[in-house]
Amino acid sequence: VPAIAQRRSAEQLKEQAKGWDWQFTQATEGEVLDLIHGIVRVHKPSVCVETGTLNGHGTEAIASALVRNDRGHLWTVENNPEYKYHPMDRVTFVGADSTLWDPPGNIDFAFVDCGPPDVRFKAMARLLPFCQRGAILCTHDNWFYTDEFTAGMSKVIGKPPNIMFPALNGVAVWVFDG
Ligand SMILES: C[S@@+](CC[C@H](N)C(=O)[O-])C[C@H]1O[C@@H](n2cnc3c(N)ncnc32)[C@H](O)[C@@H]1O
Repeated sequence: VPAIAQRRSAEQLKEQAKGWDWQFTQATEGEVLDLIHGIVRVHKPSVCVETGTLNGHGTEAIASALVRNDRGHLWTVENNPEYKYHPMDRVTFVGADSTLWDPPGNIDFAFVDCGPPDVRFKAMARLLPFCQRGAILCTHDNWFYTDEFTAGMSKVIGKPPNIMFPALNGVAVWVFDG
């Protein structure tokens, strides 16, 4: 993994966020939502998992792609009981700690977006035994958490990302080798 993601000051982040569909909250950038929506449209997964539901922006991006695909189901996992979930077609909401939850088998798409790096490592490690060969695994905030996060996640998955988008908060994509 190239050393590209450095820590930023609040001013640098504000500057870099210009032109981005992002409100300086924990919610995923609109551009990344478009990306995961597009991946789900093209990949046509049957079993999808999102860790870290928050207000459902990623959930909506994935679920709306599944609706358009007319196939597949999403399990979205959130451990904060304050989260208010609005039921959506093709989605099962799971109120649980994603590092302890038993995922469904044959996962072929995952969006890991829950808490600090160590929680994300554990959440991904929990999912991997349930992932199919060829599954697409996306991690969010790779740029936000800097290269140590991507390096740590690469160790968990067993290889560097197949593609890394190093802006704004960063998203990395792996094709799981099984
Ligand atoms: C960055 S936000 C998720 C953003 C959301 N995916 C989106 O697209 O807008 C991270 C979320 O992960 C949740 N979270 C943190 N640790 C978790 C855990 N161990 N299990 C499940 N959810 C967790 C937080 O409560 C928070 O809602």
